[in-house]
Amino acid sequence: MIDLFYAGWVNIYLRLEWGWSVVGSVSKTSQIPGFYRLSPVERLKLVKEFAGLSEEEASLVGSMKGLSLELADRMIENVIGGMTIPLGVAVNFLINGKDYLIPMAIEEPSVVAAASNAAKICRVKGGFTTSATPPIMIGQIQLTSVVDPNWAKMVILESKEEILALANAQDPMLVKLGGGAKDLDVKVLHTLAGPMVIAELHVDCRDAMGANAVNTMCEAVAPLIEQKTRGKVYLRIITNLASKRLARAKTVADKRALGGSNVVDDIISAYAFAAADPYRCATHNKGIMNGVIAVALATGQDTRALEAGAHAYAARSGHYSPLTTWEKNEEGDLVGTIELPMAVGLIGGATATHPVAKVCTKILGVKSAVELAQIMAAVGLAQNLAALRALSQEGIQKGHMKLHARNIAVAAGAEGSLVDIVAQKMIAERRIRFDRAKEILEELKSVVKQP
Ligand code: MEV
Repeated sequence: MIDLFYAGWVNIYLRLEWGWSVVGSVSKTSQIPGFYRLSPVERLKLVKEFAGLSEEEASLVGSMKGLSLELADRMIENVIGGMTIPLGVAVNFLINGKDYLIPMAIEEPSVVAAASNAAKICRVKGGFTTSATPPIMIGQIQLTSVVDPNWAKMVILESKEEILALANAQDPMLVKLGGGAKDLDVKVLHTLAGPMVIAELHVDCRDAMGANAVNTMCEAVAPLIEQKTRGKVYLRIITNLASKRLARAKTVADKRALGGSNVVDDIISAYAFAAADPYRCATHNKGIMNGVIAVALATGQDTRALEAGAHAYAARSGHYSPLTTWEKNEEGDLVGTIELPMAVGLIGGATATHPVAKVCTKILGVKSAVELAQIMAAVGLAQNLAALRALSQEGIQKGHMKLHARNIAVAAGAEGSLVDIVAQKMIAERRIRFDRAKEILEELKSVVKQP
């Protein structure tokens, strides 16, 4: 007998004389029906089983006290405490034939549910397929005060091997792992402050985000570049426009699962709007980043670097454009793609130090930064699909307002079962406001007080 165990494992049972016994588990699924209806404790129990978390890891996440004051004080300056935001888990993600539960740290309602719903739709036709470039980051060295910038460019290019060797001498461990400085580009810019020569180191960062490695290399090779060109180097810094470190994902969303052929057309029309208008496009891409950044935060990534890279990449043609594409295939299903820079790492930074980020990485079960990058691209694509579907159909306010009303009720002082009662009343009245929540709460309390 084969049975779908609730935690997502497909268990194989054998009928023995004394009853049924589990003899093995062939795979696990992230499709967990009714996950959203469970309590946080029940959900954590399922995630613990799915990801093989220890008691300690699970209770760290569940306790809401994942970061000690002592550790926080070592992470940044002038620490006074910590700020906790909710950690949710998106279900239904099937990526390259493998099931993932997606940890998402975010304060905005609806995002986790939307990602889970879109992933469910995409599952019908096989989920997401992804790919990525090697994890190459670019470091820039700004050379000024050269009278003949094109000559200087040639000199730097002729010294390429020497410069790369000096860069690689800064990080023998990275080189040993197959990474390191691999290439050098040089460009001449004509700027407000006169001509500049920009040398660009291409560094394979392997499983690191790479800012430290790249910045160290840039600083190390700057004197050599100055000496060769007799110019003056100023900036030596990584670029967040990580155009050589791209993650890609694609999916086919079944037209019936989406709600019909008209929904396919409506989503394509919404995408066309974003492609034509930067004002709409900024929000389109923001929706994508809702998913990407939620996973980034959960896994301790540099979220600002990811945001900067994504939006600069979206504007690389000179026309700010969507990071996704949506079109219809021969069967009339909706085909989506995404491509964006994804500078993420598994070693160094908060990923390696923040205890909750470590547990979230374990929940994802990723083995490399490149794998994490691809999952994040798939989540971004799912998030965009969910947003376009909702926006082009019933709008997003209905779903948003339900959670918003609960938040308002809590802010007004409602506790326990009163939260839902106050929220429901405000929704029914279409008056979701703090002052109204307070009034309802007072009314309810006075009713309870009456003998
Ligand atoms: C809200 O956080 C995100 C959306 O505005 C994205 C979009 O408009 O595509 C719903």
